[in-house]
Amino acid sequence: MVKAVVAGAAGGIGQPLSLLLKLSPYVTDLALYDVVNSPGVAADLSHISTEGEVKGYLPADGGLEKALTGADIVVIPAGIPRKPGMTRDDLFKINAGIVRDLIEGVAKYSPKAFVLIISNPVNSTVPIAAEVLKKAGVFDPKKLFGVTTLDVVRAQTFVSTVVGDKNPAKYNVPVIGGHSGETIVPLISLSEPKADVPEDKLAELVKRIQFGGDEVVQAKNGAGSATLSMAYAGFRFAEAVLKGAAGEKNIIEPSFVFLEGIEGAEEIKKAVGVDFFSVPVELGPGGATKLFNPLEKITSYEKGLVDVAIEGLSGNITKGVEFITKASESKI
Ligand SMILES: NC(=O)c1ccc[n+]([C@@H]2O[C@H](COP(=O)([O-])OP(=O)(O)OC[C@H]3O[C@@H](n4cnc5c(N)ncnc54)[C@H](O)[C@@H]3O)[C@@H](O)[C@H]2O)c1
Repeated sequence: MVKAVVAGAAGGIGQPLSLLLKLSPYVTDLALYDVVNSPGVAADLSHISTEGEVKGYLPADGGLEKALTGADIVVIPAGIPRKPGMTRDDLFKINAGIVRDLIEGVAKYSPKAFVLIISNPVNSTVPIAAEVLKKAGVFDPKKLFGVTTLDVVRAQTFVSTVVGDKNPAKYNVPVIGGHSGETIVPLISLSEPKADVPEDKLAELVKRIQFGGDEVVQAKNGAGSATLSMAYAGFRFAEAVLKGAAGEKNIIEPSFVFLEGIEGAEEIKKAVGVDFFSVPVELGPGGATKLFNPLEKITSYEKGLVDVAIEGLSGNITKGVEFITKASESKI
């Protein structure tokens, strides 16, 4: 029995992500939580003739508690997209509060679950989640993940376009750092198989991976950001976590994690000097079993990208931590 919860299940990402989880043989019980329309989405998905039950919950009548109780994995794409006239800071405060409240629920009702954060800004919402779990005394760094898989998926796709190969899935390109703009560092030099990207195309390719989200925002022309590719990416990472939990071997995906309490974390933290960083993670029965450090093997151009990423990241991480510490100080 594996119970998966999607929090924010009625949204642009939440609906297709819930659909994919309904199709997954790794999920036997699917709980959909949202502040609107989750019973409708659940009723719709419940007609699909795959094994596994699906139920929808709203906040009324202890819906969050019911959704989270017994959960093995909680995936969180809840939040609001940026609306006209809204600053990034306004968006941060709203999404930060949503993630904090949901993680308080996780701490209470499903403290042993794997927690996958999709809500942006991931560079800050993951530190927020860690602080909330620490305060509740249930933080396990092996089980908290910022989902950066969309950057990996874009790297595979855009690399294959540049080299003229029709099979993007075959390129395994590690993407490290954070999950916004210049904090995203694709390591094209470590692609397996090797990707022969012409020198004069490299910077443009890196920029396309870092700012790929903007292409979707522009093409959707006011109707939102990446939802379908994100649902695919979120599902791919969730299934990787579940495969690892089921004891399958060699399950490795990059993810934004806390750099303590996991094999290999200390060495990476020493090299990057920040508390959270995305690196390839080996997934096993307890979650993240090992972190891989690609920093020794990268080119000097990529080292420069890492330096820029670290600078941006450290501010993003502090912002997340301060959101929780300041809120608790003002409660005193
Ligand atoms: N990690 C990534 O790669 C990535 C990619 C794209 C978007 N995102 C982020 O994912 C989030 C969701 O994007 P979307 O396009 O699906 O937005 P959306 O507005 O379509 O959906 C968000 C859903 O969250 C729900 N929600 C709001 N507050 C909630 C709460 N307190 N509890 C439960 N549900 C709540 C809303 O009702 C809505 O259904 C945004 O923060 C977006 O920036 C992340």
